[in-house]
Amino acid sequence: MMKMSKLTNESKKKIEDLVKKLNHHCYQYYVLDSPEISDSEYDGLYRNLKQLEERTGYVLPASPTQRVGAPPLDKFEKVRHTEPMLSLDNAFSHDEIKEFDKRLKRFLKSDDDIEYTVEPKYDGLAIELTYKHGLLKRASTRGDGNEGEDVTLNIKTIQEIPLYIEGQHIPNEIDIRGEIYMDMNEFEALNRERQIQGEASFANPRNAAAGSVRQLDSSITAKRRMHLACYGIGASQNANFNSQWEFVNWLKQHRFPVPVHMGLTNGITNVIELVTDIENKRSTFSFEADGVVIKVNDFDLQHALGMKTREPRWAIAYKFPAHKGVTRIKDIIASVGRTGTITPVAFLEPVSIGGVTVSRSTLHNWDEIERKDIRIHDTVVVERAGDVIPHILSVVKDKRTGHEKQFTPPAKCPVCGSSVEKVDGGVAFRCIGLNCKAQAQEHIKHYASRSAMDIEGLGNKNVELLFSTGLVSHFVDIYSLRKEDLLKLPRFADKSARNLVDAIEKSKKTTLSRFLYSLGIPHVGEYAARLLAKHFREIEDLFYLEPDTVMEIKQIGEKIADSIAQFFNDQTNLETLRALRRMGLKLSNPDYDDKSIQHKPLDGLTFVLTGTLPEPRKKIETYIDSLGGHVSGSVSRKTDFVVTGESPGSKFNKARSLGVKTISYEEFTKMTEQ
Ligand code: IVH
Repeated sequence: MMKMSKLTNESKKKIEDLVKKLNHHCYQYYVLDSPEISDSEYDGLYRNLKQLEERTGYVLPASPTQRVGAPPLDKFEKVRHTEPMLSLDNAFSHDEIKEFDKRLKRFLKSDDDIEYTVEPKYDGLAIELTYKHGLLKRASTRGDGNEGEDVTLNIKTIQEIPLYIEGQHIPNEIDIRGEIYMDMNEFEALNRERQIQGEASFANPRNAAAGSVRQLDSSITAKRRMHLACYGIGASQNANFNSQWEFVNWLKQHRFPVPVHMGLTNGITNVIELVTDIENKRSTFSFEADGVVIKVNDFDLQHALGMKTREPRWAIAYKFPAHKGVTRIKDIIASVGRTGTITPVAFLEPVSIGGVTVSRSTLHNWDEIERKDIRIHDTVVVERAGDVIPHILSVVKDKRTGHEKQFTPPAKCPVCGSSVEKVDGGVAFRCIGLNCKAQAQEHIKHYASRSAMDIEGLGNKNVELLFSTGLVSHFVDIYSLRKEDLLKLPRFADKSARNLVDAIEKSKKTTLSRFLYSLGIPHVGEYAARLLAKHFREIEDLFYLEPDTVMEIKQIGEKIADSIAQFFNDQTNLETLRALRRMGLKLSNPDYDDKSIQHKPLDGLTFVLTGTLPEPRKKIETYIDSLGGHVSGSVSRKTDFVVTGESPGSKFNKARSLGVKTISYEEFTKMTEQ
C-alpha cells in the first residue's frame, strides 16, 4: 500500500487552505463563469492537493478530489425524503394565472395584493441535497415524491454543487432542492456523439439529464456537463428564513447556483408582466425552460395556504405554449446508418416553428408511422416543445385529398438490396448486408472523425466525394490515397491535397483505445474502447477472443462482449487489421494497466470495514476494488473478512456471532502484498 508520511500541522493547514482556494475557484469558474486563474494554474493547485492528500492520508470531505473516482455501484439505495417533494399545479394561460390569484384571495378571505416570486421553470430533474453541519451528506432524486434514490456519488461530480456551505450561522441540517439540467448545447453535442457511437439519442435535455444522473458508474456522469438551479427548501433544523426571496438570496451568497431572472413583485398584474418578460427572453437562455413558476413569497403565508393532495396551494407553474406548426410531408425515406439501422425520415415543406426552420423530422420508429397513420403528402402538426428534435404530433386528416401514399418499411435495404431484419422487438429494422454502401460510407465518416482517428481534412463532405468517386470504399483505402488522385477531384488543390495526405500519414500514430473506437464495432463507444485498452496491451491480444474473456472486464456486459468477440473472430476483419499494420499503423497504449489484471490478490472476496481505520474509507474501498475485491456495508454469511479498526462498531460483534473472520488493518495489508 502507499507509503504515508506523518501529518504535520503545517501540511494540515496547507491542505485546508488548498481545499478552500480550489472551491472558491471552482465557484468562480462554474457558477459565475468568471475565472480568476487559468486552467493550468487550477490544475497545478489540484495536483498539489492530491499529492498532499495521498502522502498524509488527510482528506477533507469537502475536498474537490472527492468529486470523482468512486467505484461503480451495484444499485441505488432508496432514500425517504423527510418532507415530501411535491409537484406543481399548472396554468396554461394568463387567465388561469389570474384565477390562481383569485383562489388564494378567496382562501385567505382577503383582497390584499399578494407578494409573489417568479422564476423560470427548468426542464430537468428535481433533486434534494441534504447538508449536515454544512457538509453535503446526500443527494437524492425526487422519485415518487416520498421516496427517491441515493445519487450522491453522481451529484458530487457536478462541479457547481457545493460540497460544503461556508460561513457563519449555517443551519445544522438543511435540505436544499433544485433542478439538475443540461444546457441545449451540451445536449446536442452529447446526442451527436451518441449517434457516432451508434447509441440511441436522448429525446430532450430532460431525458439526457435524468439518464446521466441515474448512472451506476459516476465516471460517466462526470463526463456530462450538467448544471443546477436551486429553488426550494425541504426539512431543516434551526434555519430561519422568512421568505422565498430571502432564502434564494441566502443560497446565492453561499455559492449555490440559483434560477436566472428571478423576480419579486406585488399583485398578479405585475406577475404577468414578469412572466411575459421571461417568455420573451426564453430563446436566449442556454437551457430549456418549459414555463414559469409563480410562488407566494412569504413563508408564513405559504404555511397558512398549505397543501392540496400532492401540490402546494401557494405555487403554480405557468406552462409556455408548445411550439407547433402545420406543414406537409413531401416525402418519407428510409435512411441507413453506420450500424445498418434503418430509420424513417420525413422531409417537410420548410416551416418556421418558434423561430427555427424545420424541414426534416426523424420518425423514431416504424411503429409511430403506423400508430399515427402518417402518409406521404399528409398535412401534419409538428411540435418543437422541450424536444429539440422536432416530431410529428398528428395528422390533419380533414386535409386529406386521397392522393396520400402509405409508407411501409422496406423489405430490402434501400441502398444495397440486402435483407432487412427486425430488431428491438420489431419496431426497428436493420440491413444485414456486409457490403452495404450506406453503412460503408457512414463507417468511413466515423473512422475519420475527430473523436476517432481525427484525420484533419477528411470531414463528411470529403468522405462523400471520395466514396462517390470510388477512391475510398472502405476505410483501409484511405491509406492508399495519393496526392495525384486527389488533385483530379474538384474540391482539391495542391495545398489541400498535400495537407490531407500528410494528415492521413500523421494519423497512423495513435493510441490503441482511439483505434478500437474508430473501428466502429457495434456497442463499442469511447468508454468501452478505453476499458479494452486498459486490459489488453496490443491489438493482437484481442484476436480470436472468447466473449468470456471480455466479460472478465467488470464494466463490460454480455451484449458488448459478444459484439467484440464476433468482430475479432472474423477473418476479414483480422486481415484488415493486419493490412493496416503493414501500412504503418503504430499503436501506443498509455491506458494499459498491467497491475489491474495481473495482481488481483483479493479476487472474489467480500470485505466489511468497521471502526476507525488508518486511512480514509473511500480510499480503502477503491483499493480493495482495484484488487478484485468488493466492499459491502453490512456483515452477512457471505462476508469473507471484516477489517477491524479502532473502536469497532456492531459489525464486529455480528461477524463474531456469524463466525466471519475478523482481521486487523495490518493483516489486511499483508493479504494485498501476497
Ligand atoms: S418549485 C412545491 N421551482 O417542476 C414546489 N420547481 O412540475 C415544487 N421545477 O418537481 C417545486 N423549475 O422538478 C420549482 N423554479 C422552479 C422549478 C421547479 C423546475 C420542476 C421541479 C418540480 C416540477 C413541478
